Amino acid sequence: MVFYISVGIWLILGFLCFGEPNYVLTIKTGGSVTIPYHYDEKNPPQKKYWHSDNDQSHIYTNTTEENLSVIDHPDQSLFTLTMRNLQNKHTGRYYCAVETDGQSTARFVLYLKVQSAPDVSVKSSSVSGHEGDNVIVQCFYSSGYQKKTKQWCRIKDKSCYTVGRTDTSQNSSVQISDDGRSFTVLMTGLRHSDSGWYFCSAGETLNTVQLTVIEAEPVSVTTEKDKWRFCLSQN
Ligand SMILES: *[C@@H]1O[C@H](CO)[C@@H](O)[C@H](O)[C@H]1NC(C)=O
Ligand SMILES: *[C@@H]1O[C@H](CO)[C@@H](O)[C@H](O)[C@H]1NC(C)=O
Ligand SMILES: *[C@@H]1O[C@H](CO)[C@@H](O)[C@H](O)[C@H]1NC(C)=O
Repeated sequence: MVFYISVGIWLILGFLCFGEPNYVLTIKTGGSVTIPYHYDEKNPPQKKYWHSDNDQSHIYTNTTEENLSVIDHPDQSLFTLTMRNLQNKHTGRYYCAVETDGQSTARFVLYLKVQSAPDVSVKSSSVSGHEGDNVIVQCFYSSGYQKKTKQWCRIKDKSCYTVGRTDTSQNSSVQISDDGRSFTVLMTGLRHSDSGWYFCSAGETLNTVQLTVIEAEPVSVTTEKDKWRFCLSQN
């Protein structure tokens, strides 16, 4: 009960987690989504909850059900909400509430909109590549978004690349091209530290992508030796 009251107070003061604008995440009816929330790694909260406006009676914590998983990943200071089989009733605002040193704070994370044809969607919400490789992410947007600013952003540190901007603040390891229906992000020379959650956005509408960078296998000395030993034993 105390928790609800605290959440009520903090919602008013809560700030946006994905950045400044009121971000809207659009997902196809029947689809699934994972919403990541990064918490302070230096002072991790003791309790973490997900909360939604459209289901006041529910707070979600540490659960795995058919259509819902709430998982804490302490190694990444990450708390995720995954919802499957999304229906219209899931449209609404989502908050992450954390309790640190007895203080509750609720943060508005984003507005989820379930649509038959999502305004912004991704070809694949999970991509992976090996260290040093390149990876491509394709983001589609509906015609009403053609003139909006398009961005590719890393959620954790809110670093963004903007389509069509050529100034030096943009990193040459990320290239974006736009064909009027979709934009394609090419990330070259992947590093292990590039792993994590990203979003692509058109205006304030976005979709999330998880990038996994697989560490290069160290060259195994024993394998080489074993091979030689095998060759020698054949003679
Ligand atoms: C979350 O649930 C798992 C499985 O029931 C349990 O082992 C774990 O201790 C729980 N973690 C927290 C933080 O409650
Ligand atoms: C999961 O969602 C599907 C589709 O809406 C529904 O039929 C099913 O009953 C849900 N499962 C649970 C456990 O709520
Ligand atoms: C570009 O990104 C790479 C990999 O993330 C990083 O090592 C490099 O310092 C960045 N360069 C600039 C100018 O930000």
